[in-house]
Order: sequence, then structure tokens, then C-alpha cells
Amino acid sequence: MAFPNLLLFFFVFHFIHPKSAYSKCHKPFRCGNLGTLEFPLSNMQPECGLFMVNCSSPSIPKIQFSSGGIWYEIHKKLSTNQLVIIDPFLKLQLFDQNRNCLSLHNMSLPKSSSISLTLISPNITLFKCNNEPYNEEIRQRFDPYNYEHETCPSYTVYYRNPRNASLTNEIDVPSQCSVIQMPVNLHQLDSGDLFRLLTAEFIIEWNFSDDCSKCYNGGGLCTDDEMNSFHCKTVKFKNTPMLFLICKASNFFISKRHV
Ligand SMILES: *[C@@H]1O[C@H](CO)[C@@H](O)[C@H](O)[C@H]1NC(C)=O
Ligand SMILES: *[C@@H]1O[C@H](CO)[C@@H](O)[C@H](O)[C@H]1NC(C)=O
Ligand SMILES: *[C@@H]1O[C@H](CO)[C@@H](O)[C@H](O)[C@H]1NC(C)=O
Ligand SMILES: *[C@@H]1O[C@H](CO)[C@@H](O)[C@H](O)[C@H]1NC(C)=O
Ligand SMILES: *[C@@H]1O[C@H](CO)[C@@H](O)[C@H](O)[C@H]1NC(C)=O
Repeated sequence: MAFPNLLLFFFVFHFIHPKSAYSKCHKPFRCGNLGTLEFPLSNMQPECGLFMVNCSSPSIPKIQFSSGGIWYEIHKKLSTNQLVIIDPFLKLQLFDQNRNCLSLHNMSLPKSSSISLTLISPNITLFKCNNEPYNEEIRQRFDPYNYEHETCPSYTVYYRNPRNASLTNEIDVPSQCSVIQMPVNLHQLDSGDLFRLLTAEFIIEWNFSDDCSKCYNGGGLCTDDEMNSFHCKTVKFKNTPMLFLICKASNFFISKRHV
């Protein structure tokens, strides 16, 4: 009698336990020399995670934050929610001997309603200003005593050396300027060269939102829809009456065993 009871119990457990539906997505996976990774990362299974990871090259695993986006190289795993990553295009541009102004673009990490993803290594704020014709407002706002600058073909980039006092009053931005943030290498503070101060290697960290934690711990999977609002994918019972019968039957057998 014990054997069928046990079998029935596992059968029922398998169907009613919510973890079963997304258990494959909850499983950590090995990725090259990084060890194991887990949700929100997924080994190229879009239904299983928010960020895709391609582990096919063990020495250079790659990560993509949005479909069709840049494949960043994963240099190191620091913890379950921290990675050191490299932007391969930025790396090429920064190594360019011609001081490539194209490298000066916003560091953009995706916004997700399930997860907060941030750059945790230091970054620098650059003011990219359309500086022609000569503009007195810009010149005063970014006075040479406090700001350094880099002249590019169609704009000038102003910045404060991070060694200086903390950035204050950075909300006041002239209309001809846009604000961009880029990762910096603090070992290069003394170089006095913006292109050496910038780095293509940076540390990212993510945390689940409260809703996403609840969803994940309950066996579900967090997703963002097209409008970037949060959804929790959970197991759906299509044949509840059938399950009910199985549960009843299992209770019957179990109670019978105890009389
Ligand atoms: C993973 O990356 C390799 C190259 O490193 C590429 O050949 C392969 O197609 C990628 N896999 C997927 C599923 O995109
Ligand atoms: C840059 O650093 C500041 C201060 O630590 C932080 O608030 C901001 O989110 C960072 N920028 C990016 C793009 O991560
Ligand atoms: C900012 O740093 C530069 C270089 O070290 C220095 O010459 C300048 O005096 C500093 N400016 C302020 C406002 O501290
Ligand atoms: C760069 O990113 C910041 C923060 O995400 C944003 O406020 C800013 O408008 C962006 N700049 C440009 C030029 O897109
Ligand atoms: C993640 O959570 C930890 C602990 O609450 C917090 O210290 C850290 O700043 C958070 N990081 C992000 C990127 O939200």
C-alpha cells in the first residue's frame, strides 16, 4: 500500500507545487569560467529570464540587457547580483589613438519594473554642449577654474575632474547642453586626459523589486511587458476539477492507511 500512496503523493505534489512550472528557470546554470549564474540571467532562453547570457565561449561569456542590444563581455562575477562587464565598442573607441569623440555617449542601462539595475563603479558626468556660435552662458557656467573640457568636431564636452569636490548644482544645465554619464577608472585621475579617465570596464548590480521578490520566491517568474509594467508569470491550473479529484483520492488513501 505504501508504494502507490507515495507515488500518488509525488504525483499530486508535482502538479500543485507552483515551483514546478518555472523550476527550470529557477535553476542556476554554469557559464564558462564564471561559475554559476541565475535569474534574472538566463542561458539564452528568453522565456526564463530578463537578461540573456551567451556562455558558448567559456573565456568570454556575454550578456545582453535588451533584445537586439549590445552584447557586453562578462569579465567577472563578483556576487550573485554583481558583474564586472566590458563594453567592447567603447573599449575600441577609447583605445583609438585619434581620441575618438564617438566614445562620448551615455551609459544606458535598461529600466525594468522587476529589477533595479545600476552602475556601481564610479561614473563621471559630462556636459556635451553645442558650442557654436560662441556662447557666453556656457563659458560662464563651465568656468575653466572648475571645469576641464575636451573639444570635439561639433561640440565641446565639459567635465569636472572627479578628484575635485563632489558635484553640486548639476541640475542647472544650459539648453545647448545634454548630460551624459560614463564609467571612469579612478586610477587614471592624474592623467588629465578624459579619454584615459573613461573606461569600458564597469561594475553593475541589480536588485529585485518587492513585487518581483514575492513572485520569484512564490515559484513564479518576473517579466516586464511592452509597456514596461510588472507581471508575475505563475502556474495556471487548467484542469482544477481533475486535480481536486486526485487530491481527494490521495487523502482517502492516506487516511485509510492511518486507521
Ligand atoms: C553565442 O555566441 C557565439 C559566439 O561567441 C555565437 O556563435 C552563437 O551563435 C551565440 N549563440 C546564440 C544562441 O546566439
Ligand atoms: C553615476 O553615479 C551616481 C552617483 O553614484 C549615481 O547616482 C548614478 O545613478 C550613476 N549613473 C549611472 C548611469 O549609473
Ligand atoms: C579642481 O582640480 C584641479 C586639478 O587638481 C585644481 O587645479 C583645481 O583647483 C580644483 N578646483 C577646485 C574648485 O577645487
Ligand atoms: C543620459 O542618461 C541620463 C540618465 O539616464 C538622462 O537623464 C540623460 O537625459 C541622458 N542623456 C542623453 C543625452 O540622452
Ligand atoms: C541593492 O540592495 C542592497 C541592500 O538592500 C543595497 O545596499 C544596494 O544599494 C541596492 N542596489 C541597487 C542597485 O539597487
